[in-house]
Amino acid sequence: MFVLRRILPSCIAVAESRDDLPEGWLYPEEAALISTAVDSRRREFTTARHCARRAMRELGLRAVPVLPGRHGAPRWPSQAVGSLTHCAGYRGAALARVGDIAMLGVDAEPHGPLPDRILEAIALPRERRQVEACLARYRDVRWDRLLFSAKESVYKAWNPYTGQRLEFEDADIDIDPDAMTFTARLLAPRPDLPAGVPPAPGRLEGRWLVSEGVVLTAIAVPAPL
Ligand SMILES: CC(C)(COP(=O)(O)OP(=O)(O)OC[C@H]1O[C@@H](n2cnc3c(N)ncnc32)[C@H](O)[C@@H]1OP(=O)(O)O)[C@@H](O)C(=O)NCCC(=O)NCCS
Repeated sequence: MFVLRRILPSCIAVAESRDDLPEGWLYPEEAALISTAVDSRRREFTTARHCARRAMRELGLRAVPVLPGRHGAPRWPSQAVGSLTHCAGYRGAALARVGDIAMLGVDAEPHGPLPDRILEAIALPRERRQVEACLARYRDVRWDRLLFSAKESVYKAWNPYTGQRLEFEDADIDIDPDAMTFTARLLAPRPDLPAGVPPAPGRLEGRWLVSEGVVLTAIAVPAPL
């Protein structure tokens, strides 16, 4: 079973791979986007799109190119909301019907310490105290990397829905080490959305896990908001 499945509701189609797959392929429009990219970027981009197409098929949608939209967010068929992630040892896609899920973000990171000075750059003082307390108490999880991944999941769920960019200090993440969940409190002023679009919630609930050297986080906000 896909590990991403364990942290997302069953209405969401997921597909993932630990390696790049020989059967992965790109539409010409996708290939044009990475024609000058290094080989590793080309491979992760291709495998993530292979996963995305598997998820589209699982939802009963026709496979289409996955191209970047505003702020780099992937553009999905109009009936779908989704998220992609790739890191060393993991590529994954999650996709849902807009009638089921309003906001969706997934992120994978290598399960190792953040590089020097990154925690100070991305964490609010309260988050940093929590990470340091968890690092002292539970030694089998890299809580600094988990915090980083949770913030990336927040951004991937938030930005496509609101069109708003977020800085790392714009979300205050509270991790529950035992329930393997987290809550993100959004601190940025709420953007104006088009008429008829419900405001994004001020708190997002997420789940996390560590599997085979990878930290995974996921946020799925049910529709309607
Ligand atoms: C965009 C970003 C979130 C990607 O995360 P990452 O850990 O670097 O990389 P991942 O491999 O997990 O994800 C990459 C995928 O994210 C998706 N993505 C890019 N921009 C996105 C956006 N604005 N919204 C949603 N998804 C986005 C793309 O599908 C991309 O894959 P692709 O280039 O193959 O299409 C990150 O690079 C970034 O810009 N972060 C700064 C913003 C932020 O996180 N603020 C903190 C908020 S609290």
